[in-house]
Order: sequence, then C-alpha cells, then structure tokens
Amino acid sequence: MRIVMIGTGYVGLVSGACFSDFGHDVTCVDKDPAKIDALLAGEIPIFEPGLDELVARNVREGRLHFTLDLADAVPSADAVFIAVGTPSRRGDGHADLRYVYAAAREFAEYLSPGTVVVTKSTVPVGTGDEVERIIREARPDHEWSVASNPEFLREGAAIEDFKHPDRIIIGCNDQHAEDVLEEIYRPLFINRSPLLKMARRGAELTKYAANAFLATKISFINEVADLCEKVGANVQDVARGIGLDNRIGAKFLHAGPGYGGSCFPKDTLALLKTGQDYDANLRIVEAVVTANDNRKRGMGRKVIHAMGGDTYGKNVALLGLTFKPNTDDMRDSPALAIVQTLQDAGANVRAYDPEGMEHAAKMMEGVTFCKDAYEAMDGADAVVIVTEWDAFRALDLARTKDLLNDLILVDLRNVYDRAEVERHGFKYVAVGC
Ligand code: UGA
Repeated sequence: MRIVMIGTGYVGLVSGACFSDFGHDVTCVDKDPAKIDALLAGEIPIFEPGLDELVARNVREGRLHFTLDLADAVPSADAVFIAVGTPSRRGDGHADLRYVYAAAREFAEYLSPGTVVVTKSTVPVGTGDEVERIIREARPDHEWSVASNPEFLREGAAIEDFKHPDRIIIGCNDQHAEDVLEEIYRPLFINRSPLLKMARRGAELTKYAANAFLATKISFINEVADLCEKVGANVQDVARGIGLDNRIGAKFLHAGPGYGGSCFPKDTLALLKTGQDYDANLRIVEAVVTANDNRKRGMGRKVIHAMGGDTYGKNVALLGLTFKPNTDDMRDSPALAIVQTLQDAGANVRAYDPEGMEHAAKMMEGVTFCKDAYEAMDGADAVVIVTEWDAFRALDLARTKDLLNDLILVDLRNVYDRAEVERHGFKYVAVGC
C-alpha cells in the first residue's frame, strides 16, 4: 500500500517507519524544512530507542521517504494519515485542532478518488465529521472516506507497541475505508493482534477513554499510597494484592509522583471539555485531574518534610527529570513542580537526567545541571529519585555516602529496598511504604 503520513512528530515518524518496515511504501510529509532536511540526512529529531536504525534501514531499502511536497506525495496514496499535534488549547484545555484542519485543507486538492483519509492524531469525538466536511467542501467532485485510527504507543516503547499492539482500533463509516485499513494492518493481525472495527466516533472516544482510565488507575494507587503511609501498610503489597485479580490487572498500579508526559495530562483535560460540551458529567476524570495536579507539588513538600521542614540554602540532588525513563520528554513532568516547590522553599537544586537536560534547561531556571548522578549528589543535603532510569536503580551507596552532607534518600519511584538503604545509614523515604 502507498501511505502518506502528514506530520513527522512522535506519532507520525514512529507509525511511518513501522508501516514501511511492514513493506508498505511510506512518505512522511512535514511543513518544517529543517525537520525534513534533518530526516533526509538521517538525523532523528526525537529520542526513541531503536527508531534511528528502523528509519535508516527503511530509507536505505527505498520504502520510507521524506518530503515537504504534498503535491508530490498525496496523489498516488491509498491512505493519507493525519498525524499532526493536537496540543491543549491555551485558556480552556480543549484539544487544539487547528493543525488537523489546516492539514486537511492543504492536502484535499491533491487527493485522488479512492484515497482514504485517516486521523491518527488524538482528536475529540466529532473531529472526523469536521475533517470530512472540510474535504468535501474543497473537493465536491467525489465521495471521500474519512476514518479514525487512534494510536496507543508509549514513549520509550513505541516500536514494540506498534509492532505488537494489544489491539488495533479502526473507526470507519464506510466499507471502502475499512477494506483499505484492514489491508494496511494485515501484517499485524496475521500475528493475531485483534483488529476492532467500529464507527468513527467510537474509535475517537476509545482513545480518550483508554488514556483517562489508565490515568485513573495511577491516581487511584497514588491515593492508596498516601493512605498506606498513614496506616502503616505497603502500597507495593496492596498493588500486587489487587493487581493479581484479572479484573483489575497489575499494570499501571505503580505509585509515584503523578503522571506527566504529552498525553495523559492533555487528554484527560480534553475529555473533560468534551463532557462539558455534551452535557455529560465526568466526575471521576475531574477528580483524577485534580488529584494529579495536587500530587506533583505535594512531592516537593514531601522532600522538604523528609529534610526536617527547612530547606533554606540547602542543596537537593534530583536524579531524573523526564516524566518517565527512556525519553527526553519533559512535558508536564512532575520534576517541574518539584523543582519549583523546592526553589520556593529556598533550596538549591542540582540535577542530572540521562536524556532530558537539554529540554529541562529551557523549562527550569536556577538549576545546576550535572554530568552524572554522582556530581549531582556532591555536597547535597538530600537525594531525590524523580524518574526511574536504570542508571539510578543501583547507585553505589558507599560512594554516595562520602559525597552527601546528609544521608537522606527520597525515592519517589520505589526502586530501592528500604532495609538495604537503611543498612547504609540513610534515612529512606519512599511512596506509600
Ligand atoms: C500513554 C499511554 O500509555 C499510551 O498507550 C498512549 O498511546 C500515549 O499515552 C498517548 O496517548 O500517546 P506515555 O504518555 O508515553 O503513553 O507514557 P506512559 O508509559 O503511559 O506513562 C505516563 C505517565 O504515567 C508517566 O509519567 C509515568 O511515570 C506514569 N505512571 C505510569 C505511573 O506513575 N504509574 C504507573 O503505574 C504507570
């Protein structure tokens, strides 16, 4: 199949590279000449394990192309995927759909009869209707198919998620769109990945409901963790105890500093807006959003409390800044609120992150960025693990002891064993245990 991917951001680039790896002929189009030049030169603008080799291989084998030119790419496509950003709209948190609609307007004139338009960007219910309207207005000469095909990739594991999905959702309102999407995903469902067909609006909502439900699991276990601390229970025991029930499931029950990233915070807010627009109460999602916002700053206060309540002029070493490991993404990372809370309380923050410091430096002021974890801990009055990068899971505690002014380890990801850390003479503060 010939596929055009509009947008070479996270979703577009990963999906485009994976489709080409299945043997499809894929052209990724972007408006940004610098991005296209970089991609043509073999540079990958995002950090995603394995993506550079995947792109290089498929470019080399002639299945993956990059261009600025819609007129060149679109006319021969069997499907045009829209994979542009849908950030939160400033002011009201609604998904900002201007890039989606602009893309539809721009490529409509180049569409050939039979080409299916597919939204892969995360878009609120009803967006497909508007895309269809835009295309029909621009091209009244034909009946056009517009489908929804949301993605469920996790940053850091995106290629694996794409190639071995729990399910593929295709939302189509006509048979032709369904046939084309089935053909595109055939290599996957041959491997028994379930392909779920539904109407377009159902597919659009499935994406938001999935993210909101996962966010709910996280906020739920985070609140249980707070209760565990008060009643003297261990949240990891409780999470295991409930997670082994198949109806609940063990995943997304790790208590921590709150969820961040480019998806859960934005998508939960956008879902609330959809609920308001359609007069449907989403009180659970509302509570999740509030709990998560409060939690991030609350983690800063937890550190201050662990340090005896007074951090004025003290040094705090933060290990990990990104919203999760194996990404350089700092968007809505709990680290942002934690740094702010510590700085508001007069602390000096020294930080190290294996991949996120370049982005972090643009979002945080007054932080000393260090070349590794040990440099960050040199002269610190407490160490805080904010992100569970592998590099922080087995710190040399004996060496760490010599560097620190005060032996306090605040482990916001529960990656250490209390008994072992305490054996080294540390005060150990974790989440929910
Ligand atoms: C999330 C979903 O997992 C993907 O399925 C979805 O496709 C994607 O959003 C999206 O909509 O594009 P992602 O944001 O990459 O993926 O990251 P997750 O691995 O889901 O983690 C999100 C946040 O939740 C992180 O801050 C992580 O630390 C936190 N988390 C996750 C927890 O605090 N506890 C957990 O048990 C799991």
